[in-house]
Amino acid sequence: MMQLPFQIDLSGQVAVVTGGSGIIGGMFCRALSKCGAKIAVLGRKAENGRPVVEDIQAEGGEAVTIAANVLDRESLEAAKQKILEKWGKINILVNCAGGAVKSAEIPQDQLADYEEGTLNFFTTDMENVRRELDLNLSGTMLPTQIFGECMINQENANIINISSMGAYGPLTRIPGYSGAKAAVSNFTEWAANYFARSGIRVNAIAPGFFQTTQNHNLHFNPDGTPTPRSQKIIDSTPMRKYGEPEDLIGALLFLVSPKGSSFVTGVVLPVDGGFHCYLGV
Ligand SMILES: NC(=O)c1ccc[n+]([C@@H]2O[C@H](COP(=O)([O-])OP(=O)(O)OC[C@H]3O[C@@H](n4cnc5c(N)ncnc54)[C@H](O)[C@@H]3O)[C@@H](O)[C@H]2O)c1
Repeated sequence: MMQLPFQIDLSGQVAVVTGGSGIIGGMFCRALSKCGAKIAVLGRKAENGRPVVEDIQAEGGEAVTIAANVLDRESLEAAKQKILEKWGKINILVNCAGGAVKSAEIPQDQLADYEEGTLNFFTTDMENVRRELDLNLSGTMLPTQIFGECMINQENANIINISSMGAYGPLTRIPGYSGAKAAVSNFTEWAANYFARSGIRVNAIAPGFFQTTQNHNLHFNPDGTPTPRSQKIIDSTPMRKYGEPEDLIGALLFLVSPKGSSFVTGVVLPVDGGFHCYLGV
């Protein structure tokens, strides 16, 4: 059972979490529910959100799973209609859908390490990079367009985006993802100003390195042993370890807290054991 680092009161509020069936999104859904919010778990397929909904209901919370593709306006509009019919309002939007596209990954850190027969920067299919940019940037902007409109001047209206360490500087091998998340951080700041006098705060969380399924192949060999890349990550993290996904909950609760952060907007909060501020020397 999940333990919250601290409690905030979101009773009666409605939270929408895109990518709510994912590792981090699912955890955020459970945490927000424990604070009293009603949760719309959005994912590409409704059935993927069922385990999250069942966990929430088993603990006495209210949740619904709805199919919605963050790149498809119609499906997001339909999801909004369902949520408004059921609960009448939306207070919180967490834009958690996103991630790196495996086929856009470049297999070597530097061209000098290129091995004949593998892919490299010159052979990267730009279509895959475009998909990565689209998923992370448009997949944050479009739900903000659709759900943000009915959040204007709502009680405790908050939008939380998910950035990455790649936003502070490019991570090797994943230039498309790094650029996309830099754009997510930039959009967070843009939107914070845009909505500031319309009662919506907009902030982001930038997770450091966590052991989740999405990044598993980059960080661990098929036999479960760490790759050289994961050793570099640990060496570049002042706290010398990967984070536990649960370490992100405190940042989320702080940012959506009506009392704790009411004058905070446009912030990208790193939760990374110090990775973003350490250059290695
Ligand atoms: N795991 C990490 O270490 C880490 C680090 C930094 C940032 N992040 C970011 O955190 C977020 C969540 O990542 P995660 O690790 O929980 O990964 P995850 O793969 O478990 O979750 C991502 C979710 O997004 C959903 N999704 C993908 N495309 C979608 C679309 N078009 N429409 C709707 N939903 C879609 C997936 O189905 C999945 O449920 C992502 O934005 C990711 O980039 C993760």
